[in-house]
Amino acid sequence: MSDVLGYKGKRVIVSGCFSGMGEATAKLLLELGAEVHGFDYKDSTLPLASFTQVDLRDPASIEAGVAGLGRGRIDALFNCAGLPGGGGFAPIDTMKVNFIGTRHLTETVLPLMGEGSAIASIASTGGLGWSRRIPVHIELLQTKGFQAAVEWAEAHADQVSEGYAFSKEAVIVWTQFAGAHLIKKGIRINCTLPSPTQTPMMATFHATSGKDVVDAAAEPMGRYSTAAEQAGGIVLLNSALASIVNGVVLPVDGGFMGGVATGQVDLSKMMRKAAPAG
Ligand SMILES: NC(=O)c1ccc[n+]([C@@H]2O[C@H](COP(=O)([O-])OP(=O)(O)OC[C@H]3O[C@@H](n4cnc5c(N)ncnc54)[C@H](O)[C@@H]3O)[C@@H](O)[C@H]2O)c1
Repeated sequence: MSDVLGYKGKRVIVSGCFSGMGEATAKLLLELGAEVHGFDYKDSTLPLASFTQVDLRDPASIEAGVAGLGRGRIDALFNCAGLPGGGGFAPIDTMKVNFIGTRHLTETVLPLMGEGSAIASIASTGGLGWSRRIPVHIELLQTKGFQAAVEWAEAHADQVSEGYAFSKEAVIVWTQFAGAHLIKKGIRINCTLPSPTQTPMMATFHATSGKDVVDAAAEPMGRYSTAAEQAGGIVLLNSALASIVNGVVLPVDGGFMGGVATGQVDLSKMMRKAAPAG
């Protein structure tokens, strides 16, 4: 098969390669002939070009992981690591992994990127509320570096709440914001919004939100997506075929967002859950 996606021989980094969508993304990139470097805080058994234990809650660990890859060009970065909200995870840890550490990893990798390189992150339909508080997110985006962002999040615990929705909103706003200036260097940045997906994280979503609420977000397709289906969306975004797709927030959701926008998906189950008990 011809290399229409353009991954053959490309040097790419996948965060969160231990399980779920990150593991599926790394597998797909290996099949497409890329040189795949994996980062996670849990060991991967995939036949990667390299695996480095990186904890996205720790900036020194992120910097050491990237330094370990040397000065060679990085063609693509896949930000797949994430933590759910609640379920025993502190909101600040969820913020660190999903946004602050992910941004720090991206900013540490950027000097190794050039014309034609691309970044794609996994956000979530859970970040749907981003447009209601753009000024708040711009304030967070204006923090310089890991520690300043942590201090901002700690000082805005009311906004951050359980951490998941806010961190995903932050990824969405950051993607759109960064898209408008990274493209001047020929570098693209995009993100995906997966609908409920059968991965190890799902057990926590069921425990914290309730299965009925998660099921409501799996409409109109009527089933959860697979990690491999989500890998398809993010691999497409960073591919040569998407050469001017930039600053885009791409639903990979079987039609959920379109159904919501046109009144064909019933959100009342999700809304009932959000309303006070009784
Ligand atoms: N599963 C879903 O329904 C769903 C829906 C929307 C968005 N997402 C998002 O998709 C992404 C992938 O999640 P998943 O569903 O594949 O779950 P998952 O739990 O299988 O994958 C998460 C990965 O992140 C890694 N990780 C967690 N904390 C880390 C840390 N401190 N440092 C480095 N790596 C760390 C984990 O080890 C794991 O490999 C996440 O960003 C998640 O928020 C998931």
